[in-house]
Amino acid sequence: MLTKIAETASYLKQQLNVRPETGIILGSGLGNLANELTDTQSIPYSNIPHFPVSTVAGHSGRLVVGKLCDVPVLVMQGRFHYYEGYSMQEITFPVRVMKELGIKILIVSNASGGMNPDFLTGDVMLITDHINFFPEHPLRGKNWDELGERFPDMSEVYSRRLINKALEIAADCGVKLQQGVYVGVQGPTFETPAEYRMFRFMGGDAVGMSTVPEVIVANHAGIEVFALSVITDLGIDGKVVTVSHEEVQQAAKAAEPKMTLIIREILKKINV
Ligand code: HPA
Repeated sequence: MLTKIAETASYLKQQLNVRPETGIILGSGLGNLANELTDTQSIPYSNIPHFPVSTVAGHSGRLVVGKLCDVPVLVMQGRFHYYEGYSMQEITFPVRVMKELGIKILIVSNASGGMNPDFLTGDVMLITDHINFFPEHPLRGKNWDELGERFPDMSEVYSRRLINKALEIAADCGVKLQQGVYVGVQGPTFETPAEYRMFRFMGGDAVGMSTVPEVIVANHAGIEVFALSVITDLGIDGKVVTVSHEEVQQAAKAAEPKMTLIIREILKKINV
């Protein structure tokens, strides 16, 4: 594992002209931000040694490095999901590589189903905490002390500092932002009405099929995390309706400008 991380990082260091300290993982239907970068270099995952290859429609699967608002960033356009069959180690491998490349802040986006009755489709939710409902833990197995400690603290996985900055930005720009707890599940099924009800009862505000593994590994590695979820459908008790992948992607597309605005503005405000 350590050798693989080192090999991939060394390949990327040779390829890349800049050394970003901010990484961004873009979720379903949210890949457009990568097209707003300037001075870009783009590398398909299939060219990167030891990188898994993305299989889902709507996830193009490339690493784009460049500048966003004059800040060097490394963007993953397309991520790896547990439901695709990847192991937890494969899903989180890019985060390990980011750490080796010198990434200090990780911004993550995803699409999710809203369970909080105050939410509407198209809302953007700042993830303030999560519930890990995946059947497997990304840190299970031998702990590599070089990468992080055996029993990582999880008391503030989502940086309060960055959440506060996002709230300031939202107030300044007149953008409505929701806040809440993201429940990470394996998928690929959406939830039954009883499951949405259970996750809501457990303390969740939104539920989705990603993010939690990458964030756990980022936290293990000492990377500061900021995460945004686009509410693409609603799983509100008594009002659950059918949902499809296409609807999720369309709703994500529609909310993308709001998400992009927050990410751009937060980049301007964080001095890494
Ligand atoms: N459930 C799980 N994952 C999702 C959902 C949902 O309702 N919407 C988008 N991703």
